[in-house]
Amino acid sequence: MSRSARLAPVAALLSLALALTACDSGSGGGSGGDSARPGAPGVRDPYFPRAGNGGYDVSHYGLTLSYDPATTRLTGTAVITARATQALSAFDLDLAGLDVAGVTVEGRPARTSRDGQELTVRPQDELTAGETFEVTVRYSGRPRTLTDPDGSEEGWLPTADGALALGEPTGSMAWFPGNHHPSDKATYDLAVTVPEGLTAVSNGELTERRESGGRTVFTWHTGEPMAGYLATLAIGRYRVSESTTEDGLPVYTAVDPEVDEASRDVLGRLPEVVDWATENFGPYPFSSTGAIVDRPGDAGYALETQNRPVFPGPPTVELLVHELAHQWYGDSVSPESWRDMWLNEGFATYAEWLWEEDHGGDDAEEIFTELYEHGRHGDEVFEDLWDFPPAEPPTASDISGEPVYQRGAMVLHRIRRTVGDDAFYDLVQGWAAEHRHGNADTDDFTAYVEKAFPDEDFTSLWEDWLYGEGKPDRP
Ligand code: TRP
Ligand code: ZN
Repeated sequence: MSRSARLAPVAALLSLALALTACDSGSGGGSGGDSARPGAPGVRDPYFPRAGNGGYDVSHYGLTLSYDPATTRLTGTAVITARATQALSAFDLDLAGLDVAGVTVEGRPARTSRDGQELTVRPQDELTAGETFEVTVRYSGRPRTLTDPDGSEEGWLPTADGALALGEPTGSMAWFPGNHHPSDKATYDLAVTVPEGLTAVSNGELTERRESGGRTVFTWHTGEPMAGYLATLAIGRYRVSESTTEDGLPVYTAVDPEVDEASRDVLGRLPEVVDWATENFGPYPFSSTGAIVDRPGDAGYALETQNRPVFPGPPTVELLVHELAHQWYGDSVSPESWRDMWLNEGFATYAEWLWEEDHGGDDAEEIFTELYEHGRHGDEVFEDLWDFPPAEPPTASDISGEPVYQRGAMVLHRIRRTVGDDAFYDLVQGWAAEHRHGNADTDDFTAYVEKAFPDEDFTSLWEDWLYGEGKPDRP
């Protein structure tokens, strides 16, 4: 079934609902022309229907947190600045677990109720469409570790000496309330108090570090828009090193002492990788870079947390390339919904191929062929490569599946083959520039490619490689 055919029944139902509403409420009822109603509990993500919330758009999170690893208790205040996109009588925030002590909207206490991950806030005064408002949530408790549909763990992960917060796809709601869907990006300020001797590392830049009554407060500022799933907080004993790349970009790395030595060579190449990626993908999108390296077992996977990816143990250079490439593809150009994961993972995987090609390994054409013929890349064997089309993972547990990563990269290689190297690099740079600090979906991408190369026909590439079931015919 085509995607538009699948949408048709929904569209029909919607127009019926609209017609009915128009009939029975006349001019809208309530308090005049634009009557306030509750914001939707989700943003209709195809895989996570309750992720995010309707009716408002967050511009800033101000988080003041305090954590004690001895008790695993988190105490927090979130000040969320948002703009109403409709007149609101109530709206939801996403928050999994934790106890809410109080919520104010524009400084006035608001009524709240909770249902699963939905924290519903009913302000004393209705919010008008277009109004900017501030919500303050005071909360505390022992944050949860969440299990993904694919079985991996995210949210709040206690470690031997602290904790690690990882949010892909929905884990950020385990440690702060918000509009937890990648389509609503915002800037962040985070002040974290931890026991003396521990370090708190997050995204963006460290703007202050001060001692306060036997504890230390770390203040981090993220000035470029960030999707919630890319927010991180790492608390523990870390060896911190600060430097700059040749271009003067600040580099901040925090490494668990147990893996410091084993990480040193690869992390030493971080500035080189950033420079290489900048040459290939265009200007680095953020105001600092770096890495957080914890111990193996602290997390089950690496994550491209903004500015500063997290690695559970010493990364290989290929993994470092992958997570840094995400800074352009995923972090700056973020998916519109979780269906668009291949735009993250296909690009980050293809970046690994390009690195290999540029550093004396197989070239991308050889990697493509080996994958197509034998389902292998070096030592890695992919059994599930042809299980589903990368642009349409069948279930939520498939959004991190092999087709999303490998076949996604194969699609990019097919485009490169069609248009040639120079035009291909212009394309990937242009794509990163066009949606810098924004969101994009698969339709945006295919339209962008078609517009850039009006004389080429990409129909079968999209139909067979992005949307088609099974192994496409030999290209
Ligand atoms: N995005 C991560 C990477 O490629 C991997 C990952 C972690 C992931 N959690 C996920 C992918 C959840 C999809 C869904 O480095
Ligand atoms: Zn990735």
